[in-house]
Amino acid sequence: MTGIDLSRRSLLPLAVGFWATTSASASTPSQPRAPWWKNSVFYEIYPRSFQDGNSDGIGDFIGMKDRLEYLAELGVDAIWVAACFDSPNVDNGYDVRDYRKIMPDFGTMADFDAFLARAKQLGIRVILDMVFNHTSDQHRWFIESRSSRNNRYRDFYHWHDGKNGAPPTNWQTQFGGSAWTLDEKTGQYYLHSFEAQQPDLNWENPEVRAELYAILKFWANKGVDGFRFDAITFIAKPEKLYDLTPEEIPARKTFADHGDRLSFYLKDMYKHVFKNTDLYSVGENWGVSRDEYARITDSRNKELSSGFRFDFQIKDNVDAWRKGTFHLSDLRAFNRDNSFDDHPGTWPVVWLEDHDYSRSVSRYGSQRPEYRDRSAKLLATMMLSLRGTPFIYQGQEIGMTNFPFKSIDQFDDVFAHNEWRLQVESGHISSQEMLVNLAATTRDNTRTPMQWNDGPNAGFSAVKPWMLVNPNFRTTNYSAESSDPRSVLSFYKKMIRTRKQFPVLIHGTYKDVSPDDSQIYAYIREDSTNRVLIALNFSDDEKTFALPEGETVKRIIASNMDRTQIQGSAMRMQPWESVVVMI
Ligand code: NOJ
Ligand code: CA
Repeated sequence: MTGIDLSRRSLLPLAVGFWATTSASASTPSQPRAPWWKNSVFYEIYPRSFQDGNSDGIGDFIGMKDRLEYLAELGVDAIWVAACFDSPNVDNGYDVRDYRKIMPDFGTMADFDAFLARAKQLGIRVILDMVFNHTSDQHRWFIESRSSRNNRYRDFYHWHDGKNGAPPTNWQTQFGGSAWTLDEKTGQYYLHSFEAQQPDLNWENPEVRAELYAILKFWANKGVDGFRFDAITFIAKPEKLYDLTPEEIPARKTFADHGDRLSFYLKDMYKHVFKNTDLYSVGENWGVSRDEYARITDSRNKELSSGFRFDFQIKDNVDAWRKGTFHLSDLRAFNRDNSFDDHPGTWPVVWLEDHDYSRSVSRYGSQRPEYRDRSAKLLATMMLSLRGTPFIYQGQEIGMTNFPFKSIDQFDDVFAHNEWRLQVESGHISSQEMLVNLAATTRDNTRTPMQWNDGPNAGFSAVKPWMLVNPNFRTTNYSAESSDPRSVLSFYKKMIRTRKQFPVLIHGTYKDVSPDDSQIYAYIREDSTNRVLIALNFSDDEKTFALPEGETVKRIIASNMDRTQIQGSAMRMQPWESVVVMI
């Protein structure tokens, strides 16, 4: 433990700049003195694909720094930088070799410091991705740990004897295959929830926790504002080994313990690192029930500030690779569930895209080109009018779409190649079926380079990028959209401003007012001063929406079609039209 005093953070001068927001958040009637992260709009950067600053085809911190003005102008308050530490890149940085070193592909510590300093000048906060469920197999701790049964790092990981020549249990990784790998040298198996090169850390060992907390303090002392915790609901393992049932395996049931031990570790981490700071902690809360989520993120429990849930996102990603069908009823049910009106201590995250899922406009928007942009704006209207902290993923704000994948060699992701090997090469699934599905669901869809302009490599890099550029960059790009007041980008800017202007959109209660409509989704947000109705036509067809009984529209505060009037008690909604109105 470093024993560094984090309280000095509060003495740092407040960065003031263009679009800067204040540290002590705006008071609203329903939420006096909300913590900063409740009133913030976040933006996720996937460094490898955002902006190449040194012309080697890979995004980096020099490039990210150069684009900070753009993010300030967009109006975001905080950035989540996805995995950016030194790594052999078996899983694009989610296999960390050194938690105190910037990935050389992304630059040096000096580049990071310059990026952070500029972000602060612009009033933008920064949170970093902490991959603490596992390390890389090339991390110093694991190299030591596997070297002998008596090594002092042996207990940093989970080592067990096999059972009758087979792994200790039938547990599976999230990427397919056994979660145990035999290490010939010491004759035992080690546990990994993901690839074999990502061995799981043993959080039961207090020395492991102390090391991890010291890493958090190291970055907090540099001035970062919080952390996203990768795979955090995997850190606690069952007390005893057992086998999953045959039904649980294809359902991707994890073997993690979401109960007491997880709570114990999170409380311990809070106590050692987060207490008396304004650091934000947001978990990747995969695989937990709603009640568990509420427990983990309830401010009174002092575990995590907030978290990402996946109950909706995984619905159209069957078995993690097969394209499912989007039903408005699923989205509606999830949003109601995720508003947590019944849990005032719990604060949700609102998100549609990240670096692990395909593009939202391709998943939930119109498939007709004439409605594509409008449907992207409708999704923006929804995201920015729900209770919780919105996380926009890079490129979402310009309406980037899925890549037209046609062959397996176009994919980069380890998961896509694993599935190909396990399902196609073994003859279970035809190559055509796998390709069509992977093209729709692959994480590579959100990892194609950011489209900045219609020049070479979409303005991402002066040289051929590490990943294919989506061919639609000639029309879907920042440069074209920034000068077009009717673009998806201009709409995002407006909607972010609207959210800030009307805190009811952040903190108000949530009520679905169209529960049985299969086309129009409408809800009311309300606080002690304002009532706002949001109506969204999720369809290629027009439809009349009748206002809830007794309601009249006072004024329109946002519209994705420049609508200026709503008369009477019904509104004829155009395909993919969205409105936000004061009632
Ligand atoms: C979640 C990360 O977002 C993903 O990219 C990664 O593969 C897994 N966790 C494992 O770290
Ligand atoms: Ca570079």
